[in-house]
Amino acid sequence: MNIKKVGVVGCGLMGHGIVQVAAQGGCEVIALESDQAFLDKGLSRVDKSLAKLASKNVEKGKMDQAAADAWVKETRARITGTIQRADVADCDLVIEAIVENLDVKKELFKDLGGICKPETVFASNTSSFPIGEMAEASGRPSRFVGLHFFNPVQLMRLVEVVRTDDTDGAVFEAALEFGKACGKHPVSCKDTPGFVVNRLLVPYMVQAIDMLDRGDASKEDIDAAMQFGCGYPMGPLTLTDYVGLDTTLSILQGWTERYPDEPAFKIPASLERLVAEGKFGRKTGEGYYKWDGDKKA
Ligand code: NAI
Repeated sequence: MNIKKVGVVGCGLMGHGIVQVAAQGGCEVIALESDQAFLDKGLSRVDKSLAKLASKNVEKGKMDQAAADAWVKETRARITGTIQRADVADCDLVIEAIVENLDVKKELFKDLGGICKPETVFASNTSSFPIGEMAEASGRPSRFVGLHFFNPVQLMRLVEVVRTDDTDGAVFEAALEFGKACGKHPVSCKDTPGFVVNRLLVPYMVQAIDMLDRGDASKEDIDAAMQFGCGYPMGPLTLTDYVGLDTTLSILQGWTERYPDEPAFKIPASLERLVAEGKFGRKTGEGYYKWDGDKKA
């Protein structure tokens, strides 16, 4: 199976990056949005990002200006935008990167199941929902995988490729190959909560918050311990502020609902309180720390 034509549904933060890396990998890409204004915004993010990457390559001496201009033009020419679902009907692969709402995603896949050719493979970029539930809704569970990219897509090397019990072996292999074509390091994972990265990362953040809530250590010391003791680029409480307290809480709420007996998914009291107070982390100027833009205040 060879993936040459890719539809990406949702051209927001993640979707525009997926559109770009797929085009850089040589695929013809159809970016599908719900609305023309969101589509224009997403494609202009792609334009800016391609221009930035090209000028970096020139600066580093990897390409001259003419080659960089030609590369941008060729890559961009592989991308078409649309707001009509029917335009992804003959894609080899359709990747969903819309809002993190399971009912909305299931409705989309149900509809796409009726629109796309029978061979089209479907993928979701969800961070927290079971791939199997969307696969079921699509009516083609054997042709469904998770393709979980990381933010910013253009820079992060990882893609988690997720298989359910129903995923066909050849479909899974094609998804792994597609990940490589996008310049990523694909890792295989079963359809489990949080896949690999978030299953390890979110409970780690929860442990750090619990430690702070119990008064075992200050937030500064917990962060310094992991930064200087483990060589992590930032500590877990700073990381929670970066990820967003609202996002972290909503992942945990989904997991505790599905897996009420898993102690690693227990929601810390301070996380609920801060979210209720509108303190979502760096993006709102306060979470576990106070922020002034990108810097701690
Ligand atoms: P976003 O809000 O930036 O983008 C979502 C886009 O989807 C919006 O532009 C919206 O107009 C569009 N959209 C919504 N419903 C649509 C529909 N029915 N048809 C076509 N377009 C539609 O969201 P973001 O952050 O890009 O997240 C997208 C998905 O990626 C979510 O499932 C999220 O969990 C997942 N994800 C997010 C990461 C992150 O760091 N933000 C990391 C990895 C995965």
